[in-house]
Amino acid sequence: MSWKTYPKVELHLHHEGAAPPAFIRGLAQEKNVDISKVFDERGHYAYENFVHFLSVYEAATSVLRTPEDYARLTRAVLEESAAHGVVYSETFLSPDFCGGGDVEAWREYLHAIEEVADEAEKTLGITLRGVITCIRHFGPEKARPIAVCAAETKGGFITGFGIAGDEGKGKPRDFTWAFDCAREAGLHLTAHAGEWGGPQSVRDALTDLKVERIGHGVRAIEDLALVDELAEKGVTLEVCPGSNVTLGLYPNWRRHPIEQLRERGVKVTVSTDDPPFFHTTMTREFEELERAFGWDAEVFGEITRTALDAAFCDEDTRARIA
Ligand code: ADE
Ligand code: ZN
Repeated sequence: MSWKTYPKVELHLHHEGAAPPAFIRGLAQEKNVDISKVFDERGHYAYENFVHFLSVYEAATSVLRTPEDYARLTRAVLEESAAHGVVYSETFLSPDFCGGGDVEAWREYLHAIEEVADEAEKTLGITLRGVITCIRHFGPEKARPIAVCAAETKGGFITGFGIAGDEGKGKPRDFTWAFDCAREAGLHLTAHAGEWGGPQSVRDALTDLKVERIGHGVRAIEDLALVDELAEKGVTLEVCPGSNVTLGLYPNWRRHPIEQLRERGVKVTVSTDDPPFFHTTMTREFEELERAFGWDAEVFGEITRTALDAAFCDEDTRARIA
C-alpha cells in the first residue's frame, strides 16, 4: 500500500530541522554567508554524530535572520508535510533563533509564521501549532526568557512548551523554573528525553518537569518497570524511528523498540524529527514500519488517533481534524 496520501498527524518536528537543504543554501547565497561546511558534496546536510548534528543544525539555522525568512521557511515546511498527507502538525520553535529571547522581537517572528500557517490551513488543508522549545545545551539561564516568550504569546497558535538539544548536558531539574512558568501560563508540556539519556532521564523529565508527553522516550525500553509506568499513566511518546536509526541509536528498523513499547501498552506516535537531516518523510516512516513490523491500516489508524488525542490543540480543532 502507498502511505503517501494517508492522513497523518505529526507531533515532533523541529521547524528549522525541516528546512530543505536547497532552501538553506539559497538563503546563504542571498545573504552571502559561507555555510559550505553544513553540506556534503551531494548537497545533503553532513554531520558525524549527534553532537555534531546539533552544531550543523545551528550553522544552517544561522542564515534564518528575519521574520520574512521564517515565513518562507514555514511555507516550504508545510508544503512538504502536506505533500506527505500530514493534516495536523506541531513544530518546535525556539525564540533563541528568532529574536534571541526578546519577547517583542519574538512576536514579529510569530506573526510572520502564523500568517503563513493560517494561509496553509486554507490552501493546503494542514493545521499547524507551535511548541516553544528551550535548548538544553544553551543552559537554564537562557531557558528563562524563552519560557517568558512562551507564556506571553500563549494563544491559539502557541499551545506548548518543551526542551530539545543535548540530553548529555545538565539535568531536567535545572529547567524547573522555565517549565513552572510555562505550566502556570496554561501551556502543554513535552521534553526530549530517553533519546541519548537512559530510563532515568525519562523519569527525571516526568518527575521534575511534569510533562504530558516525552520526545523520543524510546530508551525507556531498558527498564520494563518504567515502560509499565508510562503505559499506566498514559504518557504519549513522540517516537521518531527514522531519526533514531539514522543517528545510530539502533542498527536498523527491525531493532527499533517502537513495536515492543506499543505491545506493552505505551501510547506511541510516529514523527520525523528533522526529516531532511535524516533522509526521511512521514511517508517513509510509514513504509519502513510496515516493512519492519507488518503494520497495517488498523495499526496506523490507532497511531494516528493516539497522536490526535495527545495533540496540543483545543477540542474544536481536534474535532475538526478527526
Ligand atoms: N534538535 C533537533 N533535533 C533534535 C533531536 N533529535 N534531539 C534533540 N534536539 C534536537
Ligand atoms: Zn527532536
